[in-house]
Amino acid sequence: MEKQSILFVRNIESELSDILSACAFDRLFVLTDQTTHAVCLPLIEKCLVAHQAHIITIGTSDEHKTLESLADVWQSLSDAKATRRSLLINLGGGMVTDLGGFAASTFKRGICFLNIPTTLLAMVDASVGGKTGINFNGLKNEIGVFRNAFDVLVDTHFLLTLDEENICSGFAEMLKHGLISNRSDWAELMNFDLEKPDLKRLQELVEKSVGVKQRIVLEDPEEKGLRKALNLGHTAGHALESLALHEGRPVLHGYAVAWGLVCELYLSCKKTGFPHDVMLQTANFIKSHYGVFAFDCKKYEQLYLLMTHDKKNTDGRVNFTLLSDVGDLRINQTATKEEIFEMLDFYRETMGC
Ligand code: GLY
Repeated sequence: MEKQSILFVRNIESELSDILSACAFDRLFVLTDQTTHAVCLPLIEKCLVAHQAHIITIGTSDEHKTLESLADVWQSLSDAKATRRSLLINLGGGMVTDLGGFAASTFKRGICFLNIPTTLLAMVDASVGGKTGINFNGLKNEIGVFRNAFDVLVDTHFLLTLDEENICSGFAEMLKHGLISNRSDWAELMNFDLEKPDLKRLQELVEKSVGVKQRIVLEDPEEKGLRKALNLGHTAGHALESLALHEGRPVLHGYAVAWGLVCELYLSCKKTGFPHDVMLQTANFIKSHYGVFAFDCKKYEQLYLLMTHDKKNTDGRVNFTLLSDVGDLRINQTATKEEIFEMLDFYRETMGC
């Protein structure tokens, strides 16, 4: 896969206008969800008028990342006579960029798409790296393909449209990028004031964070090795996210990743020599900014079962990405059921639940 073009822009409308003028396409489509239609589309609407863009809108949130929404997008493209030379702009969070990327990758065997991420999570993670797809059969991102957007336009002004929870959610993936990079990146993030985020400082940190992901994806686009680094915090995190969903108390993805980091840094201390003080500092940061997802020991079996269903596993063993130090990766690690239960004990003790 070629290096993905990512542009950090300060004036989305004029940059997009320049890109569209330089692009050869016959019809322009913009995919939004109901929220980004209302809140973000007005910020780029003027430059779309000249190209008579067709707007396609799907429901907001992960529950709409379905085959039905995908079929709606294909239907809209078909009804408006999209061809192989048409262009789709995905304007939204990770759900929109994932689903829209997949719709574009499969319509007429693939049309061009451009991502404009509007959430912090989508800026630093989902919109970059070519993973596209939908949820299926109760499993997240079960169907999809790897295909890069021809451009990703990151304008952090969209962050002004987000609430505090969505900033925290995206920040968890940035913290993960810091942990897999080096101590200085990690320390910068730990010192960031998440309660009163400074947009200028956040812009700098976003650029650095995207750079971390971009370097990894360039080396291993299809997750054969190094890209597994990006799964830090996600084995436990996905299990907590699924448990929360089953119990009717859904949480934002980044919150689950943050709690998953607490679990997996503990496992890193125990199994691969990660420094205890760095683990505790990170856990305390997460406790104070993300609160606690509480569960009792009766849920351990269910959480373990959820971890055994993770699509990253091989040979029936639960797969983790661990660290020996900040920036010192240990991919393809496994843990026994006993060790996983101990990890959950540690989480509950540290987080006070
Ligand atoms: N979100 C992890 C990855 O893109 O590989």
